[in-house]
Amino acid sequence: MANNQPLQTDLPEHIGIIMDGNGRWAKKRGLPRNYGHREGAKTFRKIVEYCSKIGLHYLTVYAFSTENWKRPKDEIDSIMELLEQYIDDAFAHRNKDDNVRTKFIGDMSALSPVLQEKIARIEKVGEGKQGLLVNVALNYGGRNEIVHAVKQLGEKIKSGEISPDQIDEQSIGNHLYTVGQPDPDLIIRPSGEERLSNFLIWQAAYSEFVFMDVLWPDFTSDHLDQAIYTFRQRNRRFGGV
Ligand code: IPE
Ligand code: IPE
Ligand code: MG
Repeated sequence: MANNQPLQTDLPEHIGIIMDGNGRWAKKRGLPRNYGHREGAKTFRKIVEYCSKIGLHYLTVYAFSTENWKRPKDEIDSIMELLEQYIDDAFAHRNKDDNVRTKFIGDMSALSPVLQEKIARIEKVGEGKQGLLVNVALNYGGRNEIVHAVKQLGEKIKSGEISPDQIDEQSIGNHLYTVGQPDPDLIIRPSGEERLSNFLIWQAAYSEFVFMDVLWPDFTSDHLDQAIYTFRQRNRRFGGV
C-alpha cells in the first residue's frame, strides 16, 4: 500500500484472523469445497511467514470451530488432514532460524490420537522460542473456552484452594487457553461475513474489527497491511474519553 507507514513500527501486538471463505472460493470455480480448504492452508502458511517477517508477536487463527462438526464427515476429515500436513511440514522445514512457536487452542480431546500427538510434538519444539506465537484455534469455541475455565475454577473452590469471592476477570483470564497472552488488538474476518462466530468472545471485549470482502484463499500480505493500516486509523478509547 502506497500510503502505508513502514509496518514494523506501531504494529498491533496481537492479531486474530477468522480464516473464512474457503468453501465459496471453491464453489466459484466449480470445485469441491476441499479444494478451497487446501488453498486456504497455503494462504495460512504465507500469512504466518509474513507476520513473522514483520515482527508481529501474537497471531491467532480460527481453523475449526466447535460448531464446524456439523459439516459433512469428508469435509471435516480433509480439514484435519490439512492440519496434520501443516504440522508435518513445520517439522520438516524447521531450522534454528525459524523462531515461530505454534500453540493449539481449543478442546483437543475430540481430535484423533494421531493429530493430538502431532500437536503435542510441535508445541514442544516451540518451547523457548522467542518469535511470533501462532495460536491455531482448533475445535475452539469461545463459549466452550469459558465453560472450561469456569469448571476449573469450580474445582478449585471445591478443593478449598480459592473462595468464590476470589473469582475476578483476571482469574477467569488465567484459565482461558490464551493465558499469559495479551488480548487481540485487531480481529480480521475476510469472506464478507461480519460476525465473530464464537471466536475469542472473552478476549475480543475491546478488539478492533476489520471485515474484508476477500475470500480467505485470495487473502494476501497486502490485505493484512491494509487491515493494519485501517486499525491505525481507529481511535481506541477503552471506555475513556
Ligand atoms: C473457513 O471456510 C474454513 C472453516 C470454517 C473450517 P468455510 O469452509 O467456512 O468457507 P465458506 O464460508 O463456506 O465459504
Ligand atoms: C468460522 O467460520 C469458523 C472458522 C473460520 C474456522 P464459519 O464459516 O464456521 O462461520 P459461520 O457458520 O459462517 O458463522
Ligand atoms: Mg464459512
